[in-house]
Amino acid sequence: MTDVAVAGGGLIGLAVAWRAARRGLSVTVVDDAPGTGASAAAAGMLAPVTEAGYREEPLLRLGLDSLARWPAFAAELEAAAGTPVGLRTVGTLVAGFDEDDVRELGALHAFQRELGLAAHRLTPREARRREPALSTRVRGGLLVEGDHSVDGRAVHAALLAAAQAAGVVLVGDRVVEVVADGGGAGGLRLASGDVVAADATVLALGARSGGLPGVPPLPVRPVKGQILRLAGAAGLLEGTVRALVRGRHVYLVPHGDRLVVGATSEDRGFDPRVTAGGVHDLLHDAIDVVPEVSELELTETLARWRPGTPDNAPLLGPSSLPGLVLATGHHRNGVLLTPVTAEATAELLAGGTLPEVAVPFGADRFESEPMGRTQWS
Ligand code: GLY
Repeated sequence: MTDVAVAGGGLIGLAVAWRAARRGLSVTVVDDAPGTGASAAAAGMLAPVTEAGYREEPLLRLGLDSLARWPAFAAELEAAAGTPVGLRTVGTLVAGFDEDDVRELGALHAFQRELGLAAHRLTPREARRREPALSTRVRGGLLVEGDHSVDGRAVHAALLAAAQAAGVVLVGDRVVEVVADGGGAGGLRLASGDVVAADATVLALGARSGGLPGVPPLPVRPVKGQILRLAGAAGLLEGTVRALVRGRHVYLVPHGDRLVVGATSEDRGFDPRVTAGGVHDLLHDAIDVVPEVSELELTETLARWRPGTPDNAPLLGPSSLPGLVLATGHHRNGVLLTPVTAEATAELLAGGTLPEVAVPFGADRFESEPMGRTQWS
């Protein structure tokens, strides 16, 4: 018997486990291939402002809260694991490729100012002064000093080491069911037939959280993203470059010698294919904005699934099944929201109360929206 069983060893599951273990709880994480889901694909943007969508103010506030936690979280993690996580705090430039794209950036900027967010417009010359590799065809930009990045894969590796150093037990098996025991969750059943019995069970299976037997219906659906990794990019960019290119979004996130270029966003279920069109569009748009991308080595193409929800915000805290705690549905913001999710969930597990910051993100917010529920469950 363990205090906490965590289904899922991605960034969210491991961070919850690490934080809970640091609070003195015994924790077991179950995953047959930790870190090979959305965590492997994520570009690592910590970008609440440039990811902010219209009518998503609660998510924006949660993102800003988590962003503020990142420096201390990264420092503590690096100290615990003994490896760097690549936190980069140089801001994000958003480029507009043609005049229509720049007009769209103007609307985005007005929205950001309405919300009191720090962002400022750049002329094409100012944009290139900040990022000399930008194409001379870029017509304008926005600088968001507060949106940063981290190396998501390095964070995952560090979390694995830190969690195990804190006493977390990692079981390399597939979760097939949440065991319901006397009306509440009592742990996890594994593909081997073994059961990890636990006082509390945490669901952190990303896009696969919705359909797990024993879990009450949850509005989580897979949102496919295709993403690329290129090598030879040392010194090419100062920080993250996002762009609107003839109405299409692309981002380029530098991590040392590597550049991550992403990402498509497709409602195609668990389609695992990397498509010619997906790779073409990403490279075409990235090269339009930063021509030198055409000289880099394309080292990796990957398709994974974001855990989407009807309002694009995560599902946190208690579920309708007593003893089952949700830490899922992070959609486009899993890396950004890792610290706040881990710390709020650990507080619930160890202290019995979900911190105020996470309260708006309970699954019960969808209970008055039967269409949203049936659509995705
Ligand atoms: N956060 C970027 C993406 O989901 O593509």
